[in-house]
Amino acid sequence: MNFKDRYGPWALIVGGSAGIGGAAAEEAARRGLHVITVARRQGLLEERAAGLRKKYGVKVLPLSVDLAAPGAAETIVEGVEEREVGTMVYNAAAEPRGSFLDVPLSEHLDNITVNCTVPTVLVHHFGQGLAERRRGAIVLVSSMGAFQGAKVFSSYFAAKAYEWILAEGLWSELREVGVDAFSYIVGATRTETYQGQADGSSDVDAAPLGTDVAPSSGAPPSGDSSRWRLQNPSDPGEVGRGIFEAFGGGPTEFSHPFDQETSSFALQPNRRAAVERMSALISGIRH
Ligand SMILES: NC(=O)c1ccc[n+]([C@@H]2O[C@H](COP(=O)([O-])OP(=O)(O)OC[C@H]3O[C@@H](n4cnc5c(N)ncnc54)[C@H](OP(=O)(O)O)[C@@H]3O)[C@@H](O)[C@H]2O)c1
Repeated sequence: MNFKDRYGPWALIVGGSAGIGGAAAEEAARRGLHVITVARRQGLLEERAAGLRKKYGVKVLPLSVDLAAPGAAETIVEGVEEREVGTMVYNAAAEPRGSFLDVPLSEHLDNITVNCTVPTVLVHHFGQGLAERRRGAIVLVSSMGAFQGAKVFSSYFAAKAYEWILAEGLWSELREVGVDAFSYIVGATRTETYQGQADGSSDVDAAPLGTDVAPSSGAPPSGDSSRWRLQNPSDPGEVGRGIFEAFGGGPTEFSHPFDQETSSFALQPNRRAAVERMSALISGIRH
């Protein structure tokens, strides 16, 4: 079966207007799939849709939806109508940041809606068709933050852990019916959100790192490897394309080999060391 027959005819890219999600939408179109893109900025969605139609000759349906709004998942399902979704990439994220008690409760609750509730509803809905047809893919985009708690991003990291673990469970269940489901772990990537936090400035240089990790590949020249990674974020185009290259792999795939290696530190039994290290790294990020 070729790619289009296995993963088409439509790809639903939630958070598909810009950065990683925009690149994922383009990669789907390049591979011959029709694309449904979901995001808030209607003008940007329309503009990108026109570009993809012209460049790849596929159909594109832009849906302007705020994922934090009540009934967002149902609005997407209604907008998709009878189109057969063979691939769903859930890329969008809410990202509250700051001291947990200072961030308004509404932002923490939006985080749960956008990063946990809406993907759960969409997987439950579109997963039925994929399982019946015994083909297709579900990708939940998660984060290196999923592997430990840390200051500033406490509720966001908790939600990314939910997506990570949910995707691993789906991988285990759905492979039995021929559907690829997996978590795609993204590390530092130069998107609009990322630029707002760390732009390779002296804020990052100032981060007081404790224990460091020295990966053997994809590695920095020397010393503070995770700080190096923050200063050398991935290109969103490469990360978006990487999602599709990871189809058919394991329950957890990484956007960068460096992150895969350093994840072993975050996942170690010494939780104090893991949490303190990430919290120290975050101290250098603008928030
Ligand atoms: N960038 C990084 O360094 C990094 C690191 C670790 C993990 N990640 C993960 O990678 C994924 C993408 O992150 P990103 O923000 O950096 O980049 P992105 O893919 O470049 O942009 C986020 C996309 O989601 C849409 N979106 C955001 N909030 C939305 C909402 N409430 N309703 C509808 N659409 C929404 C945005 O469009 P609109 O603004 O128009 O709505 C945009 O299309 C996330 O799952 C994030 O957790 C990123």
